[in-house]
Amino acid sequence: MINSGEKIELRQLADKLEETNDLSDSEFASVLLCDDPEFDEYLSGKARNVREKYYGKDVYLRGLIEFTNYCRNNCYYCGIRKSNKNIERYRLSEEEILSCCRRGYELGFRTFVLQGGEDPYYTDAVMVQLIREIKKRHPDCAVTLSIGEREKESYRKLFEAGADRYLLRHETADAKHYEMLHPETMSYKNRIQCLEDLKEIGYQVGCGMMVGSPGQDTMNLVKDLRFLQKIRPEMVGIGPFIPHHDTIFAGCRAGSAELTTRLLSVIRLMLPDVLLPATTALGSVDAFGREKGILAGANVVMPNLSPREVRKKYLLYDNKICIGDDAAACIGCMSARVSKTGYQLIVSRGDHVRFKRTE
Ligand code: SAM
Ligand code: FES
Repeated sequence: MINSGEKIELRQLADKLEETNDLSDSEFASVLLCDDPEFDEYLSGKARNVREKYYGKDVYLRGLIEFTNYCRNNCYYCGIRKSNKNIERYRLSEEEILSCCRRGYELGFRTFVLQGGEDPYYTDAVMVQLIREIKKRHPDCAVTLSIGEREKESYRKLFEAGADRYLLRHETADAKHYEMLHPETMSYKNRIQCLEDLKEIGYQVGCGMMVGSPGQDTMNLVKDLRFLQKIRPEMVGIGPFIPHHDTIFAGCRAGSAELTTRLLSVIRLMLPDVLLPATTALGSVDAFGREKGILAGANVVMPNLSPREVRKKYLLYDNKICIGDDAAACIGCMSARVSKTGYQLIVSRGDHVRFKRTE
């Protein structure tokens, strides 16, 4: 329990964060550690005001197409890691991906997010052809890639083929913590280099971290906030860590919805015009997680456009939601959820304000 003096001090920190977009490390830590629903309401009210200043009541839609669950990597936390022999692998053909886009377009999606494991089958040539074809068929849509670490030249080719955005979570901004979550074959340095390359090439870039990942403490999260300030991404994707039964972190606790939504508000106040999704993982730890995320300052949702048959095979963590519904059901459900918060889903590419163009 915190006393009334502490409550006033914490509110002053929220005011300061809103005014200056910054706090000291220890002040950030106090805000993140304050588990008080009244304070959360105060903080999220400020975050909503700021998001409305930039984006009004609009919530942007992204159609997520999980096109392969093959992965050459072995992130210790991830259900589709290479060493997990208990899952059935799949990859979608170009025609199947294009058919997801066509269905998505009819349903009002104007951004397609192609996400997958790091699957060597999707060479630059295969991706270039796919991206060109999507842009040819849907010139008014944005293409976002989320396919992990590649060479700078590869990122450049995909950008030149028409990809607009790239999501690559940094996962943690602490190199030691990164080592705890990944095998030696992966490096923090390379992850960050990839993000810098993507920015330099001209992508709208998204980074982010899991909340409550094994070994993470409050100061790790403060480091993540500092990292976001430095890299100034157009998007920040955060969601709670959720254990997967076939990983070494199977017995670990999931990150909390409360800390995730508090972080969403902090990030909104720190980077006022950033694009901030209320993620599926947040909806998976709390039945109303995505609504809570929107009310904490998030302005993007990413319903699943993957074919129903493959959804159960793209399980990064246990108890993932939306694996039984088809795209139309997902969008209907999402639209109802968003409306209940007082915000509205809109048909738009939903670019970051710095990249806005006439639609
Ligand atoms: N391979 C690409 C990459 O690494 O960026 C994209 C796919 S990867 C599976 C997408 C994201 O899922 C990761 O960046 C990670 O943050 C998240 N993720 C993986 N396992 C998770 C888990 N157990 N709980 C929550 N999020 C998880
Ligand atoms: Fe595939 Fe981490 S397990 S990128």
